[in-house]
Amino acid sequence: MKALKPWLACTLSMLMLFFMIVPLASASEGSGKKIIVGLSADFAPYEFRKNIDGEDQIVGSDVEIAKRIAADMGAQLEIQDIPFDSLLPALDSGRIDMIISGMTPTAERRKNVDFSDSYYISRQVIMTRAEDKDKYATLDSLKGVSIGVQKGSIQEGIAKDIEGAKLTSVDRISDIVLQLQSGRVDAAVMEGPVAEGQVANSSDLAITAATIPDSDTEMAIAVEKGNTELLSQINGTLAELKKTDEVSKFVQDATALNSDEQKASSNIFNIFWDYRHYYAKGVQYTLLLSALGVLFGFVIGLIVALMRLSNVGILRWIAMTYIEILRGTPMLVQLLIIHYGIAQTFHIEFSVLQSGIITLSINSSAYLAEIFRAGIQGVDRGQSEAARSLGMSYGATLRHIIIPQAVKSVLPAIGNEFIVIIKESSIVSFIGVADLMFQAQAVRSITYSALNPLLIAAAIYFVMTFVLSKLLGILERRWSVSDRR
Ligand code: ARG
Repeated sequence: MKALKPWLACTLSMLMLFFMIVPLASASEGSGKKIIVGLSADFAPYEFRKNIDGEDQIVGSDVEIAKRIAADMGAQLEIQDIPFDSLLPALDSGRIDMIISGMTPTAERRKNVDFSDSYYISRQVIMTRAEDKDKYATLDSLKGVSIGVQKGSIQEGIAKDIEGAKLTSVDRISDIVLQLQSGRVDAAVMEGPVAEGQVANSSDLAITAATIPDSDTEMAIAVEKGNTELLSQINGTLAELKKTDEVSKFVQDATALNSDEQKASSNIFNIFWDYRHYYAKGVQYTLLLSALGVLFGFVIGLIVALMRLSNVGILRWIAMTYIEILRGTPMLVQLLIIHYGIAQTFHIEFSVLQSGIITLSINSSAYLAEIFRAGIQGVDRGQSEAARSLGMSYGATLRHIIIPQAVKSVLPAIGNEFIVIIKESSIVSFIGVADLMFQAQAVRSITYSALNPLLIAAAIYFVMTFVLSKLLGILERRWSVSDRR
């Protein structure tokens, strides 16, 4: 029993590490009330990212409204940037308190959420490349044309109603623009002010004369169904704003802010230099995630490997099922289940960073368990026989004889797992962890450069994994030398 203590201490300190470091790293602590607003920051002038004095900020008229609501409630505002079609699930699972993202209160959406009074009216337009402006001047001319829209938006519905149109639904508005510019789609359905902002910033785009019937659409704030208290607070603030027509002013200011975007060159070196802070922050998160993922994966993996090799049938069975399920399902699915599914079912809410680390840990633990098993089985039988015949107990033999040798022999494989995790960790950007991949996407949507921000990220990933594998090589040689002595 006494010998178990180091293990217990180790596990406990790991848990403490997890709950102490991780929330710290995700920042945004503070006492008092906090409201979390979800939005898809790709929708200038309503919500978009902007580099202000070298700092990445989410700005726009919706953000101003959010600030006002938070101030009226005496609460601290937290903003989460989430792809548009994930906003409703995020609200549903209680990860955010409200959506302020230029969202139109449709009958379909009203089934699942409640909407505030509308705070703005917008209209829908068709955007194309400048040279096609006259070609697509009527809705009829769009028959059979490929049209880009944002996934889950009402524009998707509008485009579907155009006869024979071929839809391309993408996550972010910037991707629509990129698809238009690269000729993958020929037109896009967009909200008027958003399209105007794009056209003002890039001379190769234009808004056509095509008119879309019933295209005046409202914007409102969504809250969880039945949350009438929050709703009436929101409506109170909106009523105040309406009295002085402040929302229009917010939109004007945000439009001006969006158009003074200095058109920096999209040369790869300039992008890297201008957005180096984004990449640096991304690298920190990627390394933190991968290191903790492998560390926790190591501990869990070792336990699972021992269960897998135990004489107790049920333990063996549990370990095998664990390994098979984790290796047999995509990590992305695991991530979404942990982040959204667990929150909803058990009302445990992990921060995005915690969900990311949990997913990486359990996923890599399955692979590490198999590595450990091979390592343990690879230790010569004679070793344990000798130890047992000297009177060592089974547990002591494992701890002092088998595991140290096994771990040593699998260290290179663990190093490889670390490298794999560095690359795979890129999927956590899906739920909004600000890792390297996330930052690359953010830079893409700010610069409207499709390729270069990704090339920079690829180069950084490569440098990280290459350096690491060289370091591992050196370590490995050291160890084999010390073995031969
Ligand atoms: N008004 C449209 C809708 O409700 C589009 C909103 C898109 N918002 C955004 N932040 N991308 O579907």
